[in-house]
Amino acid sequence: MDAEFHYVNNRTLDENVKTNIIINPHILHDYDVIKKRNKYWGIFLRHKNEIIGSTLVAHEKEDNIDFLLLASVYIDENYRGRNLCEELVKQTILKNEMRNKTNLIKVVIAGGMPILQCLLSIFKGRDYTIKKYKTKVENIQILQNIRPETAIKIEQSNYENDIWQTLFFDKNDY
Ligand SMILES: CC(C)(COP(=O)(O)OP(=O)(O)OC[C@H]1O[C@@H](n2cnc3c(N)ncnc32)[C@H](O)[C@@H]1OP(=O)(O)O)[C@@H](O)C(=O)NCCC(=O)NCCS
Repeated sequence: MDAEFHYVNNRTLDENVKTNIIINPHILHDYDVIKKRNKYWGIFLRHKNEIIGSTLVAHEKEDNIDFLLLASVYIDENYRGRNLCEELVKQTILKNEMRNKTNLIKVVIAGGMPILQCLLSIFKGRDYTIKKYKTKVENIQILQNIRPETAIKIEQSNYENDIWQTLFFDKNDY
């Protein structure tokens, strides 16, 4: 499958993106948010003449700590289950690394096991540590390391109770 990735922010011209967004409300929404609000950017995945996936991210600050919020990861329903999530998010992470602003990434896992598995497999091969808030009152200054197996266990029980876990991926600097 020929997949191409396009970086979009509120200043990019997007010749290969604009005309290829299929009528997918989620992808159109991500694109509009990026064009209207300058803190957002994202990566759009194109297959031939169709944009079939997108990420939406923003630089945020909480208690003086900078992080990249991975606000949305989306693959069109017809293209799910083909490991496209991994490459799409990987391109987003690489772009973030190039921007060199923050190595801390925050994700609220709202999409259950597929998005969790996708993230775990991306960060596994890279030098990132998985973290979560240590206390019930969310304090970004106090994060605790968590093993991937534990995040999976939490996700299994969250799914039954419709709770979303927040995870951080932090690049280790040696
Ligand atoms: C989340 C999403 C982007 C994942 O894309 P995808 O094409 O379905 O995922 P992939 O085919 O790349 O698979 C990702 C991983 O999840 C696993 N997976 C896929 N479906 C699964 C399921 N139903 N249960 C458990 N694991 C699953 C895959 O095996 C793969 O794991 P691996 O990398 O260890 O092989 C896509 O499902 C989506 O757009 N969902 C709706 C929006 C959403 O929920 N976004 C996340 C918000 S936090």
